[in-house]
Amino acid sequence: MTTSPAVSVAHATVLADAAAYAAAVETATRASAAYYETGESTLDDDAYDRLVRGIAAYEQEHPDETSPASPTGKVAGGAVTAGDVPHTVPMLSLDNVFSAEQLVAWTASVERRIGRPVEEWSVEPKLDGLAVAARYERGDLTRLITRGDGTAGEDVSHAIGTIVGLPPSLTEPATLEIRGEVLMTEEQFERANTVRVEHGGAPFANPRNGAAGTLRAKDRAYTVEMTFFGYGALAVPASGAELTGRLGEWGHSRIMRYVADLGVHTADSTLVAPRTLTTTEAIRARIDEIAAARPGLPFGIDGIVIKADSAADQAAAGCGSRAPRWAVAYKLPAVEKVTTLLGVEWNVGRTGIIAPRAVLEPVEIDGSTVTYATLHNPADITRRDLRTGDKVMVYKAGDIIPRVEAPVAHLRTGEEQPVVFPEVCPQCGSGIDTSEQRWRCVRGRDCHVVASVSYAAGRDQLDIEGLGATRVVQLVDAGLVRDLADLFTLTREQLLALERMGETSTDNLLAAIDTARTRPLSRVFCALGVRGTGRSMSRRIARHFAGMEHIRAADAKALQQVDGIGGEKARTVVAELEELAPLIDRLVAAGVNMSEPGATPPAARVEEGPGAEEHGDTGAGAGTAAGAGPLAGMTVVVTGAMTGALEKLSRNQMNELIERAGGKSSSSVSKRTSLLVAGENAGSKRDKAEQLGTRIATPDEFAAIVADFLDTAV
Ligand code: IVH
Repeated sequence: MTTSPAVSVAHATVLADAAAYAAAVETATRASAAYYETGESTLDDDAYDRLVRGIAAYEQEHPDETSPASPTGKVAGGAVTAGDVPHTVPMLSLDNVFSAEQLVAWTASVERRIGRPVEEWSVEPKLDGLAVAARYERGDLTRLITRGDGTAGEDVSHAIGTIVGLPPSLTEPATLEIRGEVLMTEEQFERANTVRVEHGGAPFANPRNGAAGTLRAKDRAYTVEMTFFGYGALAVPASGAELTGRLGEWGHSRIMRYVADLGVHTADSTLVAPRTLTTTEAIRARIDEIAAARPGLPFGIDGIVIKADSAADQAAAGCGSRAPRWAVAYKLPAVEKVTTLLGVEWNVGRTGIIAPRAVLEPVEIDGSTVTYATLHNPADITRRDLRTGDKVMVYKAGDIIPRVEAPVAHLRTGEEQPVVFPEVCPQCGSGIDTSEQRWRCVRGRDCHVVASVSYAAGRDQLDIEGLGATRVVQLVDAGLVRDLADLFTLTREQLLALERMGETSTDNLLAAIDTARTRPLSRVFCALGVRGTGRSMSRRIARHFAGMEHIRAADAKALQQVDGIGGEKARTVVAELEELAPLIDRLVAAGVNMSEPGATPPAARVEEGPGAEEHGDTGAGAGTAAGAGPLAGMTVVVTGAMTGALEKLSRNQMNELIERAGGKSSSSVSKRTSLLVAGENAGSKRDKAEQLGTRIATPDEFAAIVADFLDTAV
């Protein structure tokens, strides 16, 4: 089982003596107070959790020295702004577990306590926002209250109407209290910061701080949107016997269905929708799925909540003073850390785009050390009001590229310096075209010929052996290569005249270039480095259109027929192809192949009927005759090291092979996966496929299935 180990959050700050303990309590109390009051904490979540665990460890060793101010005994940390609206039923917190072992121990302890197996567990995302109670009277939202200290909260009814998913009126005239989390989605956070900076304010450090600050702010000159996710509901004294009875009897999942029917937003509409499950294995599998989905979610989650679902089980387990005994939070590792922005680097890519990159004080996040983070474009730096020397909140989850969320403005010392923007292209010294959000050298692709030609010669593009970056630099410096097409007109004499180029190297390189001429269109297209397209998108485009002439003839609308190409990308591709037209013409003249073997152009496919595009959702099968190939209709994932006949194939080549054989390639295992090809040292994908009961093949078994298509591997 591969349940994400939360070990990185399981460490505790070691407190050596009473003075260290007192200082830690004070630091945690101050951070917690700042967080609940303004949404801005001086500590990131991980540091706060570590500190509180250190405090708890010290208290366990020295029970007599436990401070009344300690955050360990409180519902929501010390020094919370309690507010003056009493909660009808306390708003409790949740206990945490940090590993699969702790989770199993916890479910066992609940079952021991109630003396029977729990009927069903609800497994749902732990939304990273602020808890609020929304009181509805006869269907109208009358009051919105923060959690405060759990006993009484603050009235934030002024925010009614600005929170998506929390309608002012329900679909039924029900009287009840709906509890849930208010947060900012990634998009709402971006928008909030743009608006705030425009109004002279400091940007929020992260979406949760944004939600906290926004919820409590009154009389702002502007409004920013937030989103509500309901996770519970209860009857209030005026609810009426019928509803009180129903909510008292219904299990959690039934209540949540009712809440959704009332028109309130819940996590049900998301990729990480709550599930009711019966075994610990199934719970762990769902935890893995939610953890794997986390980087791609448009909102933040910091764990998974596991709840006994039925009312009877909940009642039997009961509640402690701080948290219910029937629910627990499985914490996921922190994906955000505060670190220092040391500077900004400007790098010119192969298409001439000048991209800023944040250089950070190295920081460990989610199991890896982060030193650089993406900054998108210059406008992004301005929008985030970033300054060199700033403490910044950095976000990184899974394989995604780390990004700077925003500066932690209240930690500024005044020493921070404005980020310096380049005035000329840092690669070639030419002017910069700043008319678009992404700045570009006025020489475009010609600016960084070495980068664009090296990319084109790479293993997943034209795969020209012997043409590494050093050789490309040599060719460019000698004036022999100014773009990709020049490669195809190089002569033996020209190459022999170069340093360190003997007869054998020359002949080998010329032969490799000749082979490159025959590569399928998908690779030639990829080699062009069209902005917004990579390896898999190039394959989809090539398979869909079958020939370069059809791609060039396509307008934005026709391009949108390819899965994954929206309006904006389609327009970029059209513009890029226009810019690349002279280069493509020269490649054609040099005899470079411009067709995709086995693919059918869209016009010819019309007669094949509606089924022809059936596999087109990744574009993989599109362009191939419908139902053709041994993998027709199948989604195939490859993991681990390939052996035997497949040993030499890169992942990209494996994906090409799958698609040639009529299948769809994918990088992650899900319910939709038909086959997992698991090589040596296959890890979590194999575990997941086993859990899901997905068919698994060894490389040899797979090679036998696609034997007819192996010879054409390029
Ligand atoms: S249930 C009595 N469900 O996490 C049960 N809480 O760390 C208490 N939270 O105070 C809440 N997502 O603000 C529950 N799906 C979810 C949640 C959730 C986020 C928050 C909530 C709670 C805090 C505890």
